Amino acid sequence: MNAIALLKADHRTVQDLFDKLDQLEGQGRDKAKKALVEKLVRELSVHSAIEEELFYPEVKLGIPDCAGEILKSLEEHGVMKWELYAISSMEPDDDRYDAKLAVLRDATLHHIDEEENELFPRVKEAFDLAKLNQLGVALERAKKTAPTRAHPRAPDEPPANFVANLGAGVVDRARDAARAMMRRGERGASATRTSGTRSTAARPERPEAGRSTAGARRERSETGGRSPRAKAPRATARRAKGAHRAPAR
Ligand SMILES: [Fe+2]
Repeated sequence: MNAIALLKADHRTVQDLFDKLDQLEGQGRDKAKKALVEKLVRELSVHSAIEEELFYPEVKLGIPDCAGEILKSLEEHGVMKWELYAISSMEPDDDRYDAKLAVLRDATLHHIDEEENELFPRVKEAFDLAKLNQLGVALERAKKTAPTRAHPRAPDEPPANFVANLGAGVVDRARDAARAMMRRGERGASATRTSGTRSTAARPERPEAGRSTAGARRERSETGGRSPRAKAPRATARRAKGAHRAPAR
């Protein structure tokens, strides 16, 4: 996939997440909102990181009079990162959650619009397809290790952002894995609790269940102190002994 197609695909993913957030309603809305915002944080963090590491530097090098535009894009990324950073530590019922989400939405959609209508057409004109494909492969590779959370204080230009993103990517992905594991554990525990309750409720009543100790004692005395289970093998043994006795003459 060439670089422009890849970055535009990322933009569509982000727009789709904002659309889904707009459509949320009814019970469980907050839980669904939190899950969508987590995806949004991940998508936008990875996207910003790969643009800053690879795409913007290449554009600056290939189209020198784009430098001002790139600096503006970096500032827009900065605004988005601060909102992502804040919203990541908030809950959907916090007073400012929706306000932050609205500012993030406006900043992101404005940034997407500028890139797709101003920057990308210039890049397409300046770079041949081989160069765009080569850049696309590098962006795709960088996505696999990029930070998945917002780091607004980290450097946003090479070479400092390479080093910072490398470390942040490892830490973010370890935290993501730990969070996923914790959620799987919570789901498992909840499923066990539910099935435990269900199996107790559905368990058929055993005939012996509830039999009094006195009842058991009475049964033992009727069988000469032996348990009813012990009675059958002895009787069987007696029958077996009689079978071998010589017949009476
Ligand atoms: Fe972008």
